[in-house]
Amino acid sequence: MTISEKLNEAMNAQIGAEFAASIQYVAVSAYFAAEGLVRLAARFDQQANEERDHALKLIKYLLDTGGKVRIPAIPAPKCEFGSVAEAVEMALEQEKQVTRQINELMAIAVEDRDFAAQNLLQWFVAEQVEEVANMDNLLKVVRRAGEENLIYVESYLGDQASQVASGPGE
Ligand code: FEO
Repeated sequence: MTISEKLNEAMNAQIGAEFAASIQYVAVSAYFAAEGLVRLAARFDQQANEERDHALKLIKYLLDTGGKVRIPAIPAPKCEFGSVAEAVEMALEQEKQVTRQINELMAIAVEDRDFAAQNLLQWFVAEQVEEVANMDNLLKVVRRAGEENLIYVESYLGDQASQVASGPGE
């Protein structure tokens, strides 16, 4: 076993947080789908899958380093929202919270002089910068459109999806 007990336990808690984020995003996606906002729903479905992948990445690391995998209980997600902006605000807060948690894990890895864990966590640090920025941007777009004009947000997300699909131009 090359991972400390303290970091092992903190990573198990983080695995729970990533699965909780995944389930929360499924709930947000369902809320958007019920409102007829299919592209917002698809965006959060995709995000739910990414969160699940984050949990699996941590599980694989624990297995590779001889740690113990103990997945904690996952709390029920919030399923009802007063508005689309409220749901995206909650998602942004969730990403900021995950960033703080990743920073705590990194602090333990530094204290442990566990360079392999630091290498893994550096990936998460960079990922969180991207996820907070993306969610912050989505919130700005939702607020700018306003609840009455969310169809513009759907159109915006459709344009983004087609740009990703076509890739960089020649
Ligand atoms: Fe895995 Fe969005 O944090």
